[in-house]
Amino acid sequence: MKMIEAITEQLPAWRERVNRLRTQFGSLKVCDVTVEQIYGGIRGVQIQVSDISYVDPYEGIRLRGYTIPEVLEYLPKKPGSDFPLVGGLYYLLMTDRLPNEAEADEVEQEWASRSQIPEHVYQVIRQFPRDTHPMTLFSVAIMALQPSSQFASKYAEQMFTSEGLPKGDYWKYYLEDSMNLIAKLPGIASFIYNYKYRNEEIVSYSPELDWSANFARMIGKAEDLRYQDLCRLFFVIHSDHEGGNVSAHTSYLVSSALSDVYLSCAAGMNGLAGPLHGLANQECIRWVLQVREAFGGHVPGKEELTDHLRRQLQAGKLIPGYGHAVLRVTDPRFTVQYEFAKKYISNDPNIELIGRVFEVLPPILAENGKVKNPYPNVDAINGALQYHYGVKEFDFYTVLFGMSRILGLTAHIVWGRILGKPIERPKSLTTAMLEQLAEKSLQSLER
Ligand SMILES: CC(C)(COP(=O)(O)OP(=O)(O)OC[C@H]1O[C@@H](n2cnc3c(N)ncnc32)[C@H](O)[C@@H]1OP(=O)(O)O)[C@@H](O)C(=O)NCCC(=O)NCCS
Repeated sequence: MKMIEAITEQLPAWRERVNRLRTQFGSLKVCDVTVEQIYGGIRGVQIQVSDISYVDPYEGIRLRGYTIPEVLEYLPKKPGSDFPLVGGLYYLLMTDRLPNEAEADEVEQEWASRSQIPEHVYQVIRQFPRDTHPMTLFSVAIMALQPSSQFASKYAEQMFTSEGLPKGDYWKYYLEDSMNLIAKLPGIASFIYNYKYRNEEIVSYSPELDWSANFARMIGKAEDLRYQDLCRLFFVIHSDHEGGNVSAHTSYLVSSALSDVYLSCAAGMNGLAGPLHGLANQECIRWVLQVREAFGGHVPGKEELTDHLRRQLQAGKLIPGYGHAVLRVTDPRFTVQYEFAKKYISNDPNIELIGRVFEVLPPILAENGKVKNPYPNVDAINGALQYHYGVKEFDFYTVLFGMSRILGLTAHIVWGRILGKPIERPKSLTTAMLEQLAEKSLQSLER
């Protein structure tokens, strides 16, 4: 079944579920909000619904109900590869149904047919100095595609016609825009890579290859089948992490103003470019290399490493790749990448070091009870894998993350339109108002 048909089929049931909740249980209280939460980054405040994915603190992410190992096992694969087609993952995220091979392949073919990038996008990128951060170029390239938004032009057009565009149909244009944008991401990301670090080459999309392998081929890795598998793994596991993280929340918020997919995703990418969010992956491999450098290029033994890590922590330093705002166990996205590394590149000294840190660091981080999650997250290893296969430009890693994350962002955005979510507008208070509330609570305690 085509993706649009699979969505259309289940649309009435989803709308009914949401309508029932809103009409019959609209005043049901979900959670309270404390002053600490207001000042503390709205942590733990349950203000969103995300059916695309859910992060369980003790289990990790489930994409449409499936754990990471399940997703990797159940999604259709290209013959000869053990890793899923990203087209199949997108079908799952969008339709809430595991695709068969033909359905996954159809998404891949759709992307191939929409992959042509307008010349002006390359020109826009070339206008920037070569030392511009690749995430800036990525965001700008997405914005350069915005004039092609089908939703934006249809919306503008209906303002002046008698026909109108029913609200219930907005999502179809958002889906079209999403497909058109995703189809061009391998071409855009690879051109940014080639412009900054290689030969400025523009490589056209090959319909014979899947989305992931196309990207690999476009940055000169046509022969490297293992790297193509790594890309499939990377793009699947980074695609979504429920709705509250900075990039997902930002793009969803922007789209709630009926900004189109291009405007919304560029905004999300600008959030992903922050060092506390997507940029963290470039820090991890840098740190791994620094540790090795401190030991003359070698991988230290357990005792030496333990002393080194303790010294770093005593000096108040963060260990990149460890800890998480929601997770309280080893991130399953770390685990599957570590499995990949142990299977294919176990002799790589960076992987050896990452394994040793994994052995010794969690108990040390847990010692003083301050760090809520002493285990590795997805970023503890993803850069080391890229590095091994020759993608050694650390600042590019967030673009890879961005390519993958747009799969999830667009699924959230399209479903926001399907369910007719209104423009978001939380309410602000002043500090004086909070102080008054505090005074009142003191007085009632004294009484
Ligand atoms: C991911 C991260 C931002 C989560 O932050 P958080 O929810 O505030 O984490 P916690 O509640 O566990 O933090 C409690 C304390 O432990 C410290 N801590 C957390 N992770 C740490 C780490 N990896 N190394 C050293 N100290 C750490 C925090 O700095 C904080 O110290 P403070 O109270 O003196 O400010 C944080 O763990 C971190 O910075 N990790 C390293 C960077 C990283 O891997 N980022 C990628 C995330 S996917």
